[in-house]
Amino acid sequence: MAKGCSLVLISNNRKMPAKKCFLDNTIFLGQGVGKGKVIAYFFKNGEVNDGVRIRLREEELKLLPSFPESNKPDILLNYIGNETIIDKITLLCGYIHTDVPKKVDRNILSLMMLYPRITRSIYEVTKLSIPDIIANSIISIEELASKTRTDCSALYRVMRMLAGYDIFHEKKPRYFENSELSIYLTRNHSDSLRDSVIYRIELGSESWNELLYSLQTGKPAFDKIHNMSFFQYIEEHPEKALVFNKAMEAQYRKDFNNILSTYDFSFCRKLIDVGGGRGYFVSEFLKKYPNATAVLFDLESVLREFDNSQNKNILSRLEVCIGDFFTSVPFGGDIYFLKSILHDWNDEQAVKILCNISKIMNKNSRLLIVEIILPEKNSPDFSFLMDLQMLVQHGGRERNLKEYKHLLHCAGCLLCKVHSLPGIFKIIEAKLQGL
Ligand SMILES: C[S@@+](CC[C@H](N)C(=O)[O-])C[C@H]1O[C@@H](n2cnc3c(N)ncnc32)[C@H](O)[C@@H]1O
Repeated sequence: MAKGCSLVLISNNRKMPAKKCFLDNTIFLGQGVGKGKVIAYFFKNGEVNDGVRIRLREEELKLLPSFPESNKPDILLNYIGNETIIDKITLLCGYIHTDVPKKVDRNILSLMMLYPRITRSIYEVTKLSIPDIIANSIISIEELASKTRTDCSALYRVMRMLAGYDIFHEKKPRYFENSELSIYLTRNHSDSLRDSVIYRIELGSESWNELLYSLQTGKPAFDKIHNMSFFQYIEEHPEKALVFNKAMEAQYRKDFNNILSTYDFSFCRKLIDVGGGRGYFVSEFLKKYPNATAVLFDLESVLREFDNSQNKNILSRLEVCIGDFFTSVPFGGDIYFLKSILHDWNDEQAVKILCNISKIMNKNSRLLIVEIILPEKNSPDFSFLMDLQMLVQHGGRERNLKEYKHLLHCAGCLLCKVHSLPGIFKIIEAKLQGL
């Protein structure tokens, strides 16, 4: 099997008998979970990492081959199945890539051009709190329109379009219920994407209108629009800072928990969370390690949002420190933790941040960089979109492993190990060179 290739395994057995033989980046399709529905399970480190429900039409369902007796991946490769289904899954999940030659279909291109309409519609129904209003019920469009003070006919047209993409279900004509996707748009879901959806439209998308500027100059379009950098802008606009900080926390909460369950921090007496945002990670870290202390280090606009109402036992072991990592970073950490920091900056700036840390590290201290690592092969991978987001918004970039090694080298550090995590991130563990 070629490097970077993903297998798509198709089964009609909900219990996933083939689990033991699944490889990383394997996508397992479990059939029989309800009429027309299929679950794509994503595997990392031999475990189910994530799942997406996909609705297939009757005729598409018939095209799914039945699961073969043998669970051997090389046999299953022959069962990759029908190209339409693969295309559909690729569109919905965004990051499946197989080495099966794909049919070139101009409809896919047309659909891609229309995605911003879908995105905007998801945003508006989220802002109107429609997923929260529906909650666990089935609601008529008239009631939804009345509760959201919208035009009933226009709202219906938006809702039926979204239902076509499985965001809501039209249970009976003009009555809607939440779907497996729209529940993530509710406020109180433990894995809610509501704040992230709001951030993506209210702050994250405007720079894309000036993509040409970034293409021509290599500089962030955001700075051209606002005459200042993104982080200066959110320092000056507290309401936007709140949108950004809530989105960061909500979007990555699961990843923070994955970091804590993957990496053994038990040697760490003091952790410095550099650019730690509103403190979700340090709080969880201090809960898990009752003898440790931590410093939450970030800009003033962010630390204004720090929640002081937390458990006293945690607050007594936490120092909240306002500062600028281009000037200096708090001293004395066993671990310097940087999640989603370096990707905001160009190479020169990233090395400056790393140098400000390496000059205060000792032979026992460790640097943990948590970032997306770009795959070697071009693919419809979320990380390449994030890379462009970094370009237009910050002038930063996502990097591959070689590029991270180079940054570390420039800052006098050496990569010790890369720890895989479920999801999109990896932990790059580094120490001082020559020790
Ligand atoms: C993309 S967010 C990541 C936040 C958090 N680590 C996470 O993963 O959710 C980048 C963080 O860097 C902080 N930051 C930006 N410029 C900074 C500076 N010059 N000094 C300290 N922190 C800064 C931002 O305020 C923000 O909290």
